[in-house]
Amino acid sequence: MALFEPHRSRETEEIVGSDAATRALSVAAVENDFVARVYENIAWGYDLVFGPILHLGRLDAIRQMGIKPGDRVLEVGVGTGLNADLYPSYCAVTGIDLSSSMLEKARERVARKGVRNVRLLQMDAANLKFADDSFDIVYAPYVISVVPDPVAVTREMRRVCRPGGRIVIVNHFLSDNQAVAWIERMISPLTVHVGFKSDLDLPAFLAQAELEPQSIRKVNIPRIWSLVTCVKD
Ligand SMILES: C[S@@+](CC[C@H](N)C(=O)[O-])C[C@H]1O[C@@H](n2cnc3c(N)ncnc32)[C@H](O)[C@@H]1O
Repeated sequence: MALFEPHRSRETEEIVGSDAATRALSVAAVENDFVARVYENIAWGYDLVFGPILHLGRLDAIRQMGIKPGDRVLEVGVGTGLNADLYPSYCAVTGIDLSSSMLEKARERVARKGVRNVRLLQMDAANLKFADDSFDIVYAPYVISVVPDPVAVTREMRRVCRPGGRIVIVNHFLSDNQAVAWIERMISPLTVHVGFKSDLDLPAFLAQAELEPQSIRKVNIPRIWSLVTCVKD
């Protein structure tokens, strides 16, 4: 079933390429237990390492969302809650994460900053405990290259997003530059030990998740992360 539009534009065909629908998304494979263990171990230092370097992308994504009063936002993989106080106070945010250690940090942050419109729940992104069409915006910042099955997670994100709502993804994807892409593939089995795959293939992901983005913008410095915005039909 197509996620947004059953047809593909010529532009998308060019991005996606002919074998994108079947090729592997990454050379690395992980399981939820492994990912949970990694994040239990790195929760204490996450903000120091991944806080500042990924922050411009977080700001860009929330700005681009144009959140309206009363909007219901789901943040998938809320981590230590680095986005929590970036949301306007007039929306209702639900943040979910697999890792209890990351969520503990998020709870501390929300309490410390006096954030009142964010609730935090422990949950697997591939098995969301929400009814269909529950949210206006479903947002996954720096999560899609972390989870074992990005397509299954995207399917769940689509299910819980209301028709006309938005699915927003910020992530690092495999470089278009062949030499850089080669390195990213080589190191991906190592980068999973610090929490992410470095070689997630964007065209293959879009094809397999049947996503037809409204926009794809580069974010952060260096501009090697992508902000992908889609509208659910
Ligand atoms: C790279 S961190 C991103 C944290 C935060 N969104 C940010 O902007 O820094 C990825 C987060 O995804 C969470 N995660 C990994 N697999 C998950 C899953 N299957 N379901 C929910 N969260 C998951 C991890 O525990 C971690 O907190």
